[in-house]
Amino acid sequence: MAENLTGMKRTHMCAEVTAEDIGREIVVMGWVQKRRDLGKLIFVDLRDRTGLLQIVFKDELDKELHDKAVQIRNEFVIAVRGTLENREVINPNMATGNWEVIVSELRILSKAETPPIHIEEDSDTSEATRMKYRYLDLRRPNMQRNLILRHKVAKITRDYFDENGFIEIETPILIKSTPEGARDYLVPSRVFPGRYFALPQSPQLFKQILMVSGFDRYIQIAKCFRDEDLRADRQPEFTQIDLEMSFVDVPDVLEMNEGFLKRVFSEAIGVEVQTPFQVMTYSEAMDRFGSDKPDTRFGMELIDVTDIVKNTSFKVFSGAIENGGSVRAINAKGCGPKFSRKQIDALTEVTKTYGAKGMAWIVVEEGNIKSSFTKYLSEDETQQILKKVNAEPGDLICFVADTNKVVFDSLGHLRLDIAQKTNLIDESKVNFLWVTEFPLFEFDDEEKRWVATHHPFTAPMDEDIPMLDTEPGKVRSKTYDIILNGVELGGGSVRIHDQELQKKIFKLIGFSDDEAQKRFGFLLEAFKYGTPPHGGLAFGLDRMIMLMAKCSSIRDVIAFPKVQNSSCPMTGAPDLVDEKQLKELHIQQVEMDDE
Ligand code: AMO
Repeated sequence: MAENLTGMKRTHMCAEVTAEDIGREIVVMGWVQKRRDLGKLIFVDLRDRTGLLQIVFKDELDKELHDKAVQIRNEFVIAVRGTLENREVINPNMATGNWEVIVSELRILSKAETPPIHIEEDSDTSEATRMKYRYLDLRRPNMQRNLILRHKVAKITRDYFDENGFIEIETPILIKSTPEGARDYLVPSRVFPGRYFALPQSPQLFKQILMVSGFDRYIQIAKCFRDEDLRADRQPEFTQIDLEMSFVDVPDVLEMNEGFLKRVFSEAIGVEVQTPFQVMTYSEAMDRFGSDKPDTRFGMELIDVTDIVKNTSFKVFSGAIENGGSVRAINAKGCGPKFSRKQIDALTEVTKTYGAKGMAWIVVEEGNIKSSFTKYLSEDETQQILKKVNAEPGDLICFVADTNKVVFDSLGHLRLDIAQKTNLIDESKVNFLWVTEFPLFEFDDEEKRWVATHHPFTAPMDEDIPMLDTEPGKVRSKTYDIILNGVELGGGSVRIHDQELQKKIFKLIGFSDDEAQKRFGFLLEAFKYGTPPHGGLAFGLDRMIMLMAKCSSIRDVIAFPKVQNSSCPMTGAPDLVDEKQLKELHIQQVEMDDE
């Protein structure tokens, strides 16, 4: 039978004993990491949240106690009383490797079956097993460190924003469906048959309403839900550091959040970053890096050669330009000798993943070039291109000709792919970057209409307002994304607080008054009663911790994440429910083929 703790109180966490405790009686508790039974001596590494401590059972001191210790197995939960002593053989790999506890009392609090996971720093267990036995996976020191870091970041966040006059306010989880780009999770109403709550994709509309209510500055560490396909940096249920400020314009929001990032990186992980951060407009980011979240830790920027090949007889190039597109290149310095023909073909495949029909290339050698296409160009065109891309012997220059969208997307990704393959990225760099002035609208080819790039409450740049009537596609917005080493860490905007302008925007994105009323009526109603200019931002907390902890997936910084198909292998959710529950919710079960 399991023993209990009556009369026994923990005095120390395992790794918090110090030289001062030598000779003292201490009580420690935890899990058995490892045991070595040498007959007359039994050594146990005891583990708790703080680390390991060696404990020793000596046959010569207490035969009965020693016999009890023989039963101990890995992951048993035990409590021991004993005296801390210097070790004969020091273990330099253990923080407490100078000492050991000579045990005088042992209680076996809980036995354990052999765990299906190795409880150690770098376990090679498959992700499926790790997720099914997440409680064991979470015993591993690296997982504990990640979650403790997450706690620390949450605390610093609350402290910083509190000191700056922000108030933490919880917003509801059961809300009206107000589409924000992703698919909603829906919750059927029992009381209103056929009606649904949605889970919030973000607290967006509520935080704007809180500004109307006069809270001035709002912050929330908020759960958000989006039914979208999972990726390494996406979960259906994730957490934002969400904030909104009244009486501000773009620079005020940027400054406040730079202060936050500077503080949290310094206090949580000891990384000092310089403020103000680099700011780049969306159009400059696309032009130079082919991406709205450029990784600025390395160069290899895009080079526009459209002007040079505009009239070339090489139709792949001139045709793309005639159709309104462009021809651009990246120069992978010194990569010529590093890539075989086969590897260059693999680069072509990368560009094709992003819609390119193909990739043209030049390898520059001493006094000579090899190329997939220069035979179709005039000597003058080739020379001009080589000059423009600053070609030197050893360079590999890759070209894509297509619509701007495809050119940016394919070369932007190719740039990252080559940098990764050639170890060009300095992993010690922490490059923050604001990307600003995104287009207010994008054209939805499927629906044949303008849609809001960020959301319909985002304010246009003041000087672009006249273009709403003439060239909506050119209108820039008061948006900003914060990028860290090529990852979108957060984003936000200054919002529209003028009702007439709001109406105009709705009209442009094809919302009739009725429709706008149906979807966002409550917000529009609120805006009638005195709305301060306001703006805000949301950081992805999971992504922030992932980057701080240098993990490759946000699953490693979330205690109970979902796996690839959005399910939870540990609990078995989503699951079937009782017929009775469905009936109450007025839902009829549809027979599925293979379930
Ligand atoms: P946005 O949709 O850009 O903005 O989200 C803000 C940040 O949240 C993180 N994020 C995610 N993290 C994990 N899994 C996901 N599925 C996921 N989706 C988004 C990203 C992203 O930058 N209401 C606006 C903010 C505002 O305008 O104030 C919003 O939600 O790091």
